[in-house]
Amino acid sequence: MKILARNASHRGDQGQTHLFLDLLFHGAGEAGAECEVVTLARLKINRCLSCYRCQTGEPHLVCAYDDKDEMRGVLDRMAAADILIFATPIYLMTMTGLLKTFLDRLYSTMNISQGELSDCGLIHHHKNPAISSKPFVTMVVSSNIERESWKSVPAYFRTYARFMNAPQVGVLVRNAAGLFSQMEDPEVSSQFPRLAKVCQAYEQAGRELATLGRVRPSTQRRTNQEIVSMPFFGLLKHLRPVKRRVLAVSDAMWSGTSESGRAVVGEPAAAKTMEIS
Ligand SMILES: Cc1cc2nc3c(=O)[nH]c(=O)nc-3n(C[C@H](O)[C@H](O)[C@H](O)COP(=O)(O)O)c2cc1C
Repeated sequence: MKILARNASHRGDQGQTHLFLDLLFHGAGEAGAECEVVTLARLKINRCLSCYRCQTGEPHLVCAYDDKDEMRGVLDRMAAADILIFATPIYLMTMTGLLKTFLDRLYSTMNISQGELSDCGLIHHHKNPAISSKPFVTMVVSSNIERESWKSVPAYFRTYARFMNAPQVGVLVRNAAGLFSQMEDPEVSSQFPRLAKVCQAYEQAGRELATLGRVRPSTQRRTNQEIVSMPFFGLLKHLRPVKRRVLAVSDAMWSGTSESGRAVVGEPAAAKTMEIS
């Protein structure tokens, strides 16, 4: 079983998305899968210019940038994989520009003048099944503690799956991700005991991908479980003591202050300045 992840974090292997991919691949590797991460931020992948050379020019279905950037290599690796992973942090309530740029470039592999009906009855055009119809996992990483700001990405990939005839074999959503980079701190791990359980669930999800080709719903519930309990009715957060508590937890992720107001941690990885070359 070959699993290929595309990590669309601009922080690449210094980011939190990488941390969750690492856990997933630890489990998958243990269960015998061959795992590879393509870090999009390290590659030169130009934006689709909508020039339509891939549709009208010769050779057909070849992007104008084919020999000018590194997209071709990723397409070849996708074609050789059994399961694909789209892994993205949330930026302003959606996927990163890196991932969208990458997805747009898949257009050059599709013959848009050849109509097709997708398996679920949607009118679409030809796509290359070796690239676009592979089973895939959606992986989302965000810092906000609400179950809200990431929602557009699973919604996008649900639609993607239906048009592309691509089975979605897992949706791993991790919010409050900033807390995971502080897990080494005993006070943080005792305050948020679910952190360790979520990490174990990511490893289990990896094992299931390697052996079953999908993540079991029960495992997905564990990877996606809430770290910080929230009142069921959002409006309750306006009550002063509840508001104080939820904002304190949220601030703790960035400023290193615990729920009780005590300093618990140093600067979380998400807030660390990254060297820019
Ligand atoms: C430009 C930008 C916009 C962001 N917007 C959101 C957001 O809308 N919701 C959210 O929960 N986190 C948001 N974040 C935080 C990231 O999703 C979060 O830090 C994530 O863990 C980053 O993953 P990475 O470390 O792999 O890059 C944003 C971060 C950046 C840099």
